[in-house]
Amino acid sequence: MTDLLPYLDSSLPVSDRVDDLVGRMTLPEKVGQMLQLNAQDGVRRLVEDLHVGSILHTSPENVLEAAALVEQTRLRIPLLVAEDCIHGHSFWEGATIYPTQLGMAATWDTGLVEQAARATAVEVAATGIHWTFSPVLCITRDLRWGRVSETFGEDPHLIGELASAMVRGYQGDGLDDPTAILACAKHFAGYSETQGGRDASEADISQRKLRSWFLPPFERVAREGCRTFMLGYQSTDGVPITVNEWLLSDVLRGEWGYTGTLVTDWDNVGRMVWEQRLFPDIVEASAAALRAGNDMVMTTPQFFDGALEAIARGLVTEAHVDAAVRRILTLKFELGLFENPRLPDPGRQAEVIGSADHAALNLEVARRALVLLANDGTLPLAGGLTADADGRAVGDGTPRTVAVVGPNADDAQTQLGDWAGASGQVDWMTGGMPRHMTQTVLDGFRDHVPSDWTVTHARGAEILTVGPDPDGEFFPDGQPRPEIVIPAEPDDALIAEAVATAQAADYVVAVVGDRIELIGECRSTATLELVGQQVALLDALAETGTPMIVVLISSKPLVLPPSAMGAAAIVYAANPGMRGGRAVAELALGLIEPTGRLPISFARHVGQQPTYYNQIRGQHGTRYADLTQSPAFAFGEGLAYTTVEYADLEVLTPEVGVGDTVRARVTVRNTGSRSARETVQVYVSDTVTSVTWADKELKAHRQVDLPAGESRVVDLELPVSACTLVDAAGRRVVEPGGFELLVGPSSRDEALLRAGFTITG
Ligand code: NOJ
Repeated sequence: MTDLLPYLDSSLPVSDRVDDLVGRMTLPEKVGQMLQLNAQDGVRRLVEDLHVGSILHTSPENVLEAAALVEQTRLRIPLLVAEDCIHGHSFWEGATIYPTQLGMAATWDTGLVEQAARATAVEVAATGIHWTFSPVLCITRDLRWGRVSETFGEDPHLIGELASAMVRGYQGDGLDDPTAILACAKHFAGYSETQGGRDASEADISQRKLRSWFLPPFERVAREGCRTFMLGYQSTDGVPITVNEWLLSDVLRGEWGYTGTLVTDWDNVGRMVWEQRLFPDIVEASAAALRAGNDMVMTTPQFFDGALEAIARGLVTEAHVDAAVRRILTLKFELGLFENPRLPDPGRQAEVIGSADHAALNLEVARRALVLLANDGTLPLAGGLTADADGRAVGDGTPRTVAVVGPNADDAQTQLGDWAGASGQVDWMTGGMPRHMTQTVLDGFRDHVPSDWTVTHARGAEILTVGPDPDGEFFPDGQPRPEIVIPAEPDDALIAEAVATAQAADYVVAVVGDRIELIGECRSTATLELVGQQVALLDALAETGTPMIVVLISSKPLVLPPSAMGAAAIVYAANPGMRGGRAVAELALGLIEPTGRLPISFARHVGQQPTYYNQIRGQHGTRYADLTQSPAFAFGEGLAYTTVEYADLEVLTPEVGVGDTVRARVTVRNTGSRSARETVQVYVSDTVTSVTWADKELKAHRQVDLPAGESRVVDLELPVSACTLVDAAGRRVVEPGGFELLVGPSSRDEALLRAGFTITG
């Protein structure tokens, strides 16, 4: 016999414990349980007065204070502590910060992404945080959007693969694993379909279009057990996602059978009053959110009174609250928080946070994330070197000088990108991550060139300053408006110094890109050009005649000026994380092979938006009158230091039924003198469709290692069930008939071999 209250008895089934606890809770306690509030405002009132179920943006001190306060409450219901740990433990001093999601996507390596998420979970779990708001499953459509770096790029299939890997990594072997954290698929769904790149604008998408491209990655992780979903800011067809009963009830809970927990995005419920103006007051907005089946309400403290009043007025019933509270408590019981609230563990932190193993993994991710976009043979420098035991290149007897210039050559915060250290979302890390943990590109060259080489440096250009938003310091809800960007004016002295440095060098590595002020929520950009003095710098460096390697450290693909497009080499590094600078230097010196592939297309001009490869066929021609529509660099592209040829694509199953598998093979041959890790991409084109459809869609990829001179026959398999479209009635179907398999090194038509097959049925 036990005298424990039933909900505290871990031998009972979770549903019994939930029933018991819900039965003991007062209505205010239940409504409070639905609240997730910002711990930066202090935690005492949140716990004592509002009975919150969850907190976010919680400093290490606040995690402890909040847990102690919970111990004083009547039912002692543990808090879910949540944070945006989206490419590492973003706001924990000394944690490992990986490349951004966009950078990770450039690896096209699900195993590596899963490892990075696992290692992140291990660090996060040691700090008393149970829930990360990651991964982002938004499909980048318009490069002007400020949140491109948070995505896995533009392709729904690749996004689904990588997101699934990330969820597995976070959630580990199950929630009872003390190193597991809750994953959160966001932002459900269509948030990235912006208008003109403007953040959180109405997402003008039909239900059919949602089903075609936006929902599949979410459906995949829902069915695979991603425990939470975040509802985006946007509205579609006039309805904010927070109250979109079709999406939440019919599709997510209904068709997909999703039983996980939903969380709104930041003040979605309040925004329906003050921003979208759908409801006259918080009472009606709270009632609507409850009716639509929201569980956790992020950072709308007014929901507490609003929901209580809505129930008092009979707009909704307590049963709506109970359903949400049950789902939230289920998570807490399944995590075992009542037995072990998983508080910060200093011993464990010392062991795992920023550990050498994680740093090594991070370096590997950074290496694999670099995409070589152009190369006239200048790279690898000096024909390619090898490393000694310490990772420093061994020279060939000829000393050389490398000028590392540009505003992003030695900028640790830009290298980490958004949602890291001092990126602005939290108030306890204004100094950012410890500087010594990040190897900038300048550090990377200094640390890894041969000992008889010289590395020189000049900043060369400023990017921007910031100033107050003329519309006021705060949004109507009291949130601070980001400052606006003022592009830096030309500075001849800076450029002259960089030019002199380049002239005195054998090579100039020009590290340009964007900065945190141009990235993120409310920070979409109207242009895609390099801001400030950077174009002038590149033009001047190109004039010197010193071979120029352009390294782009930017949150998203930017439009490069002719001087950069004509450079000896171009490397896209995204925001490559703490080890990014070392990885760039290693790549340039030939200590590693370039293997990354673009998960997103680069535009030649901002006016080409959108540039994603899988657009719907049927438009007239392939050009604007004044410019080609072809992107500067296309989805899937990326060079190696060797050449790989594709030949003999053969479909072994020319006729297949709907339940079958398409089998094919292709020969890839490394025709150069260095090894390659080739990403073999498999696209499908449905030749005649009942509705207009994308001309080709990525359906699979394989990565194969090819030593110099070797060739390999690669077997390819694709379930016929992947060859679907969404018909006019909104059903995802396979339409029997003729198809083509397109196999090659990128999405460019001219790079792909084609072979036909027929689906019978
Ligand atoms: C708003 C962002 O849209 C979302 O991605 C993030 O998880 C929350 N804020 C919490 O920080």
